[in-house]
Amino acid sequence: MLPHPTPHTLHPTPGLFITGTGTGVGKTIVTGALAAILRQRGVDVGVMKPFETGVAPGNASLEGSDAGFLQRMAGTADEPEIVCPVRLAAPAAPLVAAALEGREIHLSPVLDAFRELCRRHEFVLVEGAGGLAVPIRVQTLSPESGGRGARAI
Ligand SMILES: Nc1ncnc2c1ncn2[C@@H]1O[C@H](COP(=O)(O)OP(=O)(O)O)[C@@H](O)[C@H]1O
Ligand SMILES: [Mg+2]
Repeated sequence: MLPHPTPHTLHPTPGLFITGTGTGVGKTIVTGALAAILRQRGVDVGVMKPFETGVAPGNASLEGSDAGFLQRMAGTADEPEIVCPVRLAAPAAPLVAAALEGREIHLSPVLDAFRELCRRHEFVLVEGAGGLAVPIRVQTLSPESGGRGARAI
């Protein structure tokens, strides 16, 4: 008899979703440190910051952003659109920053990017936006989107 599909068999790439109580609590530092340690141990680690606010959306590079820092720590060269698919200018919660730009955040490109990183790498680290309860869309919290398939710490 075939086993029932489990989250593990659907997303066989191990990973961690790093969240916290809010902004400025050290998520980026912790995620970057984990990426550097894994890399040093020879693990091909991919990183993702699915939603980042307070950054220039048109900026093709991730320079100066959390996503850029994580990518430097991991030593990866994935496209900015995959590492940080939702970039918004206002330094606010993604839901608010998107509304200020008259945009709505769609989750399917974010999940596609996450799956692509899982395909490319042995391990994937995802840094959440703001705190655990930061709204991305009405009725969608951050860990339910970018971190799907990863364990929360
Ligand atoms: N353990 C720590 N000791 C001292 N400073 C820290 C520590 N962790 C983070 N910081 C500093 O706190 C600030 C916010 O950390 P950051 O990782 O960017 O938080 P977040 O990603 O949660 O917004 C940064 O300036 C960082 O250098
Ligand atoms: Mg951060």
